[in-house]
Amino acid sequence: MPLDIEAIRADFPILERRLPNGKQLVYFDNAATSQKPKCVIDAMSRYYEEYNSNAHRSIHTLAGEATTALEYARERIAAYFGTSPGQLIYTSGATEGINLVAYAWARENLGDGDVIVLTEMEHHADIVPWQQLAIERGVEVRYVPINTESFTLDMDALEVAVVDASLVCVVHVSNVLGVRNPIEDIIDMSHAAGAKILLDCAQGAPHERINFDQLGADFVAISAHKMAGPTGIGCLLVKSDVMEQMVPFMTGGLVIKSVSTEGTTFQEGYAMFETGTPRIAEAIGWGAAVEWLDQFDMREVHEHINNVASWTAAQMREIPGIKIYGEPEREDSSGAVSFLHESIQSQDLALLLDEGGFAVRTGHHCAQPLMDALGVPSTNRASFWIYNTMDEAEAFIAHLQHVIRRFS
Ligand code: ALA
Repeated sequence: MPLDIEAIRADFPILERRLPNGKQLVYFDNAATSQKPKCVIDAMSRYYEEYNSNAHRSIHTLAGEATTALEYARERIAAYFGTSPGQLIYTSGATEGINLVAYAWARENLGDGDVIVLTEMEHHADIVPWQQLAIERGVEVRYVPINTESFTLDMDALEVAVVDASLVCVVHVSNVLGVRNPIEDIIDMSHAAGAKILLDCAQGAPHERINFDQLGADFVAISAHKMAGPTGIGCLLVKSDVMEQMVPFMTGGLVIKSVSTEGTTFQEGYAMFETGTPRIAEAIGWGAAVEWLDQFDMREVHEHINNVASWTAAQMREIPGIKIYGEPEREDSSGAVSFLHESIQSQDLALLLDEGGFAVRTGHHCAQPLMDALGVPSTNRASFWIYNTMDEAEAFIAHLQHVIRRFS
């Protein structure tokens, strides 16, 4: 059954919004963060209104309800990602997940002589932690280039680069280009070379169903806020044998079994990595978000997004002066259309689009090495998700044509 986009849109109160200038909001900044359905907002409000309490501490009724809801959310989220709750460490998002790998696994297991392979397509969150590790521990960081004609990874270069690698870190879907990397092949190549593999799935998880146990990656970092969940939460999924090689990173309450003035003994498994008061409302909200997403076949969701993005990109290619960075028309591309106009500055273009009600992102998208490879300082980016429609895309193209006619 095709997706009922109107029914989906009705779940998102914000899509009714008019901007202060009276224009209807058209939200095309989904790669920055998605909007939230009412069930997520309600689940979080219900927690604060009815059973707000800390979890895993007190034994009163509210504390029991909060603890049950927090752990129920972990079960739902882990199941959504095809794994067990023991493999899921709550983090603040994909960035913290990657940093957790750097601090809790790599600092303990890698050093001089080890090679970490990254790609030019990585988000800064998957570059800077490894550069810091290179400074502190002497590991070598190696970058796989992109092919600037096809906007895809140079897989031949990747195959060579991983041969003596200890860790391979790859973005699943580029937040700038929408390109989906062949992660299954990269996982196989990395493991064949004896390397561990970390996937940054912040941008991929909203577009396809990730099955962690089937995928076989060692680490997968995910953010909730790009997939209908709240900000401030995400997770790192870790294989059990690899989790055993991790050491505590952030310490304090909850992660301990006991503390004396002589020292500390730590919890085991995921509990060793979740210190301080948990992100209770956020976990409950993310649990509601995955339950909401679970009603859809993500292949249909991807097809819908890809149709809107492909049509938009094809129309944009007809507009004089517009250049698109990426191939949104490819079937596996995930709904991001990065572009520039030859004579209108990207910031100006974004403001002119905003005047028409269209929210797009402008900037380097926290991917400056990719911008360098593309030879530009920034791009405009329209990014689409489940609730966007062809009508919105048509209105966007009409407004873009109008703006360009006015300013060219
Ligand atoms: N990484 C997010 C983006 O691409 C914030 O906009």
